[in-house]
Amino acid sequence: MSNLSKNRYTITSALPYANGPLHIGHLAGAYIPGDIFVRFLRLKNKDVVYVCGSDEHGAAITIKAKKEGVTPKEIIDKYNKQIKDSFEEFGISFDIYHRTSEPIHHELSQEFFLNLYEKGEFIEKFSEQYYDEEFQQFLADRYITGTCPHCQSEGAYGDQCEKCGTSLSPTDLINPKSTLSGKTPILKATKHWYLPLDKYQPWLEKWLIEGKKDVLKSNVFGQCQSWLKSGLQPRSMTRDLDWGVDVPLAEAEGKKLYVWLDAPIGYISATKQWALDTGKNWEHYWKKQSKEADDSTLIHFIGKDNIVFHCIIFPAILHAHGDYILPENVPANEFLNLEGDKLSTSRNHAVWLHEYLQDFPNKQDELRYVLTSILPETSDSEFTWKDFQARVNNELVAILGNFVNRVMVLSHKYFAGEVAFGTDYNASDIAVFEELAKFPALIEQSIGNYRFREALSLFMNAARLGNKYLADEEPWKLIKEDELRVKTVLNVATQIVANLAILAQPFLPKSSNVLFEMLNLPKQGWEQAGKSDIVATGHQLGAVQLLFDKITDEQVDFQLQKLADAKAKNVKATAVAAPAKENISFDDFMKLDIRVGTIIEAEKVAKTKKLLKLKIDTGIDQRTVVSGIAEFFAPADILGKQVSILVNLEPREIKGIQSQGMILMAEDADGRLDFVCPTTAITAGSTVR
Ligand code: 2FM
Ligand code: ZN
Repeated sequence: MSNLSKNRYTITSALPYANGPLHIGHLAGAYIPGDIFVRFLRLKNKDVVYVCGSDEHGAAITIKAKKEGVTPKEIIDKYNKQIKDSFEEFGISFDIYHRTSEPIHHELSQEFFLNLYEKGEFIEKFSEQYYDEEFQQFLADRYITGTCPHCQSEGAYGDQCEKCGTSLSPTDLINPKSTLSGKTPILKATKHWYLPLDKYQPWLEKWLIEGKKDVLKSNVFGQCQSWLKSGLQPRSMTRDLDWGVDVPLAEAEGKKLYVWLDAPIGYISATKQWALDTGKNWEHYWKKQSKEADDSTLIHFIGKDNIVFHCIIFPAILHAHGDYILPENVPANEFLNLEGDKLSTSRNHAVWLHEYLQDFPNKQDELRYVLTSILPETSDSEFTWKDFQARVNNELVAILGNFVNRVMVLSHKYFAGEVAFGTDYNASDIAVFEELAKFPALIEQSIGNYRFREALSLFMNAARLGNKYLADEEPWKLIKEDELRVKTVLNVATQIVANLAILAQPFLPKSSNVLFEMLNLPKQGWEQAGKSDIVATGHQLGAVQLLFDKITDEQVDFQLQKLADAKAKNVKATAVAAPAKENISFDDFMKLDIRVGTIIEAEKVAKTKKLLKLKIDTGIDQRTVVSGIAEFFAPADILGKQVSILVNLEPREIKGIQSQGMILMAEDADGRLDFVCPTTAITAGSTVR
């Protein structure tokens, strides 16, 4: 699966929408993995370009502009700067951070469109599309939301349901609503240019399913397989919008390119700009080379919501064009959760990168370390502040920091910082050197297979090896009786520190720099790693510096309080959000027979995620109700709970069970549910009015 044998690499991380700040979910999805990979390739002296930039088109931008009452340009300028600065301060080592609003990008996107147009690749089609009469605008992508036909969740977008990842068309949505006016849209005819994905399906099956079965991560392969299985449909590459790249056809005046056509081309235009800036040839990184020359290896780092675009749509575009290389791999990550809940920009439930950098100055590597340890590589994972504290304090401080500090302090104390001569290596010294020599290949293999968590834990094992060696040898006890042995021990330990400095480079770049400074050595490449004579005898070490210090309880509490405050504020804000429904008569209301009931039995409905089968004592009788609350309540936790139940609802069969009534639930904007229930014990059967 690993493919580090090539010479040239084109590495991309998803272009973030310039419509808001970055959070730790972004970092764990596409940026930390990409950065580790690229730093490693550079250490291996590969010819590599790492590109990224702001995605500045599409409804994500215009909707945000509308919300803030400013122009799209103001939005992209503000967030492009903020995102770029945060990446830089955090230390993501892009060769260029570009923007899709740059003319060079518009030109290249139009060139791509015209190339496909002139080859007759597009299907030109008039069709009925949703249209908001009040705003006089067609509604595609994020301009329209509704219920997902696949997973039934509310708030699915016109192009994708973010809950289940399915790619959608506006007309797939159940109960569609305009995000501009909130109203039900009408249908109106308009012309668009469609990419016939169905035509490329056989090619995609061969290239992706046959060709990449053993290459793609299983989470990525599974998603691709399921899209192809459900059959690809032509997808419109143009939009009726006033923000984006102009469709370069006279008859398409006023229309723009679909943002998912132009955004991935942004990887190429960024490379073009980088090549212009540095005197390189961008075509070496993107175009198929002549037979003799090696093609570059293209790898896209993304989050799982972008899989379809990078594995199916963009490759189909590159294939249709014909001159370009195709991605070798798309190591997409799953999602990161935060403190038991989904990360959410709209609810402000996030750890924002720019705030982290303010709250924890100079602690970039601590966040890199913790996020790398929990990367959602194969399934969703979770960040908590307690875990952050524990990993920093018990691992970075107690193992890596402690080992390095002891070696440095003792070397200065006993030998004035001079690396002493190592003589008469005994069995334990030799065993340590042998162990140490194994790490570079193991780490390389893990990184080459996109297993960054594993790679990092191997690195920490190397630090553990050093820590244990020092604890076993106890040079601080030996110094009085056997100075010669202490010299050897500290020489061995210093070689371990030098190895750690090299091995740390992909994972903890700042700390690696500090290690090289302490060692008073220039940076070393990966070919030096594993050696036992990196630091020469007689070499003068640099001054001792603190690598890591502890995260305090106060710091953790402060962060937890911040999240709690955001939650409280959000609850308040969303409480006023939904407009009132139409008035009904009192008689209509009185038709509802709502009672207080008690849950006396609860169990999960087999093969469903959301459903619980409840037995309710309604005071009138005991009856079965199927309720979609399983994601929020465990059966054992709700036994004995008093709830409000609508008892005169027509019985309904759900998953083969007769459901006789409905439990009333409060639902917030994010679909979180809670019971509507009495606050003191009330006799079952009491009416609710
Ligand atoms: O999902 C997103 O945030 C998109 N802006 C990612 C684009 S990746 C690439 F194709 F440009
Ligand atoms: Zn869905």
